[in-house]
Amino acid sequence: MNILGISAHYHDSAAALVVDGVLVCAVQEERLSRRKNDAAFPVKAIGWCLDHEHIEPGDLDAVVFYERSMLKFERILTCALRAFPRSWRSFPHAIKNTLGEKAWVRGIISAHMDMPRDRILFTDHHASHAAAAFLTAPTRRAAILTADGVGEWATLTTGKGERRPDGRADITLRREIRFPHSLGMLYSTFTAYLGFTVNEDEYKVMGLAAYGRPTLVERVRKLIRRLPDGSFALVPEFFEFQTTAECSYSSKFLDLFGPARHRYDPLDLESPEGLRFADCAASVQRVVEDILVDIASRLHRETGLPDLCFGGGVALNGVANARILAESGFERVFVPPAPGDAGCALGAALYADRIYFHNPDREIPDHPFWGPAVDAGVLARAAHEDGQAVEECDDARLIGRIAGDLAADRLVGWMDGACEFGPRALGHRSILAAPHGIAVRDRLNRDIKRREEFRPFAPVVPIEVADRFFDVPRGGARLARYMSGVFPVRREWRSRLAAVTHVDGSARVQVLEREMAPRLHTLLEEYGRRTGVPVLLNTSFNVAGEPIVTDALEGYTTFRRCGIDVLVAGRTVVTKRAAALKEAEEWSSNSEAASTVG
Ligand SMILES: [Fe+2]
Repeated sequence: MNILGISAHYHDSAAALVVDGVLVCAVQEERLSRRKNDAAFPVKAIGWCLDHEHIEPGDLDAVVFYERSMLKFERILTCALRAFPRSWRSFPHAIKNTLGEKAWVRGIISAHMDMPRDRILFTDHHASHAAAAFLTAPTRRAAILTADGVGEWATLTTGKGERRPDGRADITLRREIRFPHSLGMLYSTFTAYLGFTVNEDEYKVMGLAAYGRPTLVERVRKLIRRLPDGSFALVPEFFEFQTTAECSYSSKFLDLFGPARHRYDPLDLESPEGLRFADCAASVQRVVEDILVDIASRLHRETGLPDLCFGGGVALNGVANARILAESGFERVFVPPAPGDAGCALGAALYADRIYFHNPDREIPDHPFWGPAVDAGVLARAAHEDGQAVEECDDARLIGRIAGDLAADRLVGWMDGACEFGPRALGHRSILAAPHGIAVRDRLNRDIKRREEFRPFAPVVPIEVADRFFDVPRGGARLARYMSGVFPVRREWRSRLAAVTHVDGSARVQVLEREMAPRLHTLLEEYGRRTGVPVLLNTSFNVAGEPIVTDALEGYTTFRRCGIDVLVAGRTVVTKRAAALKEAEEWSSNSEAASTVG
C-alpha cells in the first residue's frame, strides 16, 4: 500500500511516502524550493517522493493531509466573530487566507495530483504529531504528549500509544487543551516581544534565556492560570493573537514587561535593556518548563509507563526536554527528528496506515536521513570546471585528511548520503569545525552564519565517550540522538570545548551511534586520536537566511560564497584555492554590508 502524507499552508511544508507500512522517503519543500520555511503546497516535495519510488500519483492508495482544514477554518471564523468588533481589521485577511487555500485542500490535492477525491484523507493535526512521535519510536508502549502553537483547536494533547501483540498499533489521545490556551502561543508571544520572528526564532529565545535570570517569573505567571485539573488558561487581556495577525501581545502585556524590542535594535547583553530582555526570555522559558514538567509528571503517574513520546513544535525546546527527562519520572523521552509541522507529513501517513487502514505495525528505521542523496560526481565536475583543487580519496585517507584539516582550525562542509528530514543537521549536511576555541565560533558567526553571538553552536560526540565530556543523564542519550536535549558540559572540559559551550555551561549535544552516520563517527574517532578530544562543532550547512543545502551544487555554491575551507561529498574533497578564498571573503563582506543596510 502506497500512502503519501502532506503538510502545508502554515509553515514548513513537507511530503513523506510510506510503502507497505515503512517510511521510504520524506523531504521538506524548502529543501527543494530553496525558500526557507516554505509553506506552499509541496509540489516539489511530492514530485521528488514519487520519483524516488518510481511511482505515479495513480499508484497512491491514499494522500493524507496532516490536519482537518475545515475545522481550522471553523476555529479562525469563530475566534474572529467572538472578538468582533476588535477583530474587524484582521477578519478579511484571515478569511481570505483561509478560504484561499486552507479550507479547500481536497480540491487543491485533487487538482494538483489528478487524484480521485475519495482517496484524499485528513487526520487531526495533533494525531499527526502524536503518530510522528510514537510510530517512529523504538518502544512498544509509551505515554504521548504533543504541544504546539495551535492545530485545528487543540494546542496540547496527552494520551498513550501501544503496539499490540496482534501486530496492530493504537494511539489514544484522551485529553486536550484548546485554543487560545497554548504554551506555544505564550512562547511565540515572547518571541515577537523580543523582536524575533514568530514560528522561526523560538530557539533564539531559548538561547537568550541562558544570559538572563528568571526574575520576571511571577509576572509571566500572571499571563497563564493553572487550573486544578493540571491544565492551564492564558489570561486573554494580555494577548492579541486571537484578534489580530499584526501583534500578539496587548498594551497590558507592555504595562507588565515594558517596551518591546524592535527587530532591528541591537541586542546588547551588557546593557540594562539587553539584560531585561534576557530576563524576560529566562522567565518565560522557566514558566513553560515548569508547566511541561508538571503535565508530564501527571501523565507519568496516570499511565505508569517508563517511556514518553513528545511531539509538536514545543518539543524542539531542548532545555525543557532535559528537565522533563530529569523531573517527570519518565526514564526515556523520544522526540522525533522533525517534531514540528513538517514531521506531521510523516505522522499523517503513518497514522492513516496503522490506524485508518489497520495495517500491521512495521519498524521504522531509527535515523533522520530520508531526503535526496548527494551526488559526489556532480560536485567533482563542478569544482573541476571552476578550477578548484579536487581529490578523490579512499575512506581511510579522506578521514585522516579531514581530521587534519579540522585540527588545523579549517572549516569543513560535510555532505554524506541522504539529507536530514527536520530542522537539524545531524551529520549528513553539516559544517564541521574544531570545538576548542572561540575564534572558530566567531569566524563561523561572522563569515557564514552572520548571526547573533548569544546563539551557541552544538557539539557532536560518539556515544561511547559522551559521558567523559558531557553530563548526559540516564536516558539522555536518546534525547541527544536527534539533538533534542540540552545537557551540561563537564566543568573540566568547558575551556577546551569553548566553541560549543553555552554561557551557562550547557550544550545541545548530538550523541552519535556508529550505525546512524558511520563516516562521521569514524571522523570523530580520528579527530580524537589527533587532539585527545573526539568532539566536533556541528552546525547546519547553510548561510544565514537560506535552507540547509540539499544537493551537491547547492553545497558547492555555498562553499564558494562563504568561509568554508574544505568541502566533502562522498569520496570527493574540494579545497578552496587562495583566489577563491579572497572572493568568498569579498562576498561575505558585501553581503554583511547589504544585511546591515537591509
Ligand atoms: Fe503543529
